[in-house]
Amino acid sequence: MKLLFFGDIVGKPGRLALKLRAQALAESEGADLLVANSENSSGGIGVDPGSARELLSTGIHVLTSGNHVWHRKEIYDYLDASDRLLRPANFAPGVPGRGWSVYKTAKGPVAVVNLIGRVFMAPADCPFRAADAILERIGTRARVILVDMHAEATSEKMGMGRYLDGRVSAVVGSHTHVQTADEMVLPGGTAYITDTGMCGPLDSVIGMRTEQVLKRFVDQLPVRYDVGEGAPLLQAVAIDVDETTGKARGIRRIREVLK
Ligand SMILES: [Fe+2]
Repeated sequence: MKLLFFGDIVGKPGRLALKLRAQALAESEGADLLVANSENSSGGIGVDPGSARELLSTGIHVLTSGNHVWHRKEIYDYLDASDRLLRPANFAPGVPGRGWSVYKTAKGPVAVVNLIGRVFMAPADCPFRAADAILERIGTRARVILVDMHAEATSEKMGMGRYLDGRVSAVVGSHTHVQTADEMVLPGGTAYITDTGMCGPLDSVIGMRTEQVLKRFVDQLPVRYDVGEGAPLLQAVAIDVDETTGKARGIRRIREVLK
């Protein structure tokens, strides 16, 4: 079974990247399930129902999210109504939406789990204990399990990869928008990358207009950020999983600059 995971989609250029390439990549990679982190897809911060629907219409099956998921209030009802958009599972109990679900594919069920880190981030429940509890609940419902670990610190993401090694098919990092070159299959058979990168404007600082970001860094004044413009960068990983065992056979980085 082949899984495609796309890094954080940033604003319109990110959505355009998926519109241009999701379907073609699904075909060329022979992908059975496409997952993308959507939390910056609406204007560079948050996700609204319109953006979620637009992304799902490109061929993406499941959207994950992260710390910005609450930014657009209109997404609350959508999160409750659809399991095709996940929010981190280790947020406070009872908040809208769900943190994991099991999806049907032609080659069998796949569980997708969304977690958020706690290092250099807002407080959240323990993602490690949350993962243990979720795996217990998934039980025999799915052998193939993909975890999106949305976190800032490389160490916390790698820690999660090692913690879940042999128990899930893949742990893929999101949130920093910078693709790391450390993709590997861990000894227990879990595919891992610290950060998948982003789908968003290449000519930017992690998706935002360079001059605005520099103004904040250099002058240390509050500046409003807008999404960058120009050619979209698409970053993703293709993961090959043995669906009979749930173990990964390989993980490969994808990086394309679109015209
Ligand atoms: Fe984030």
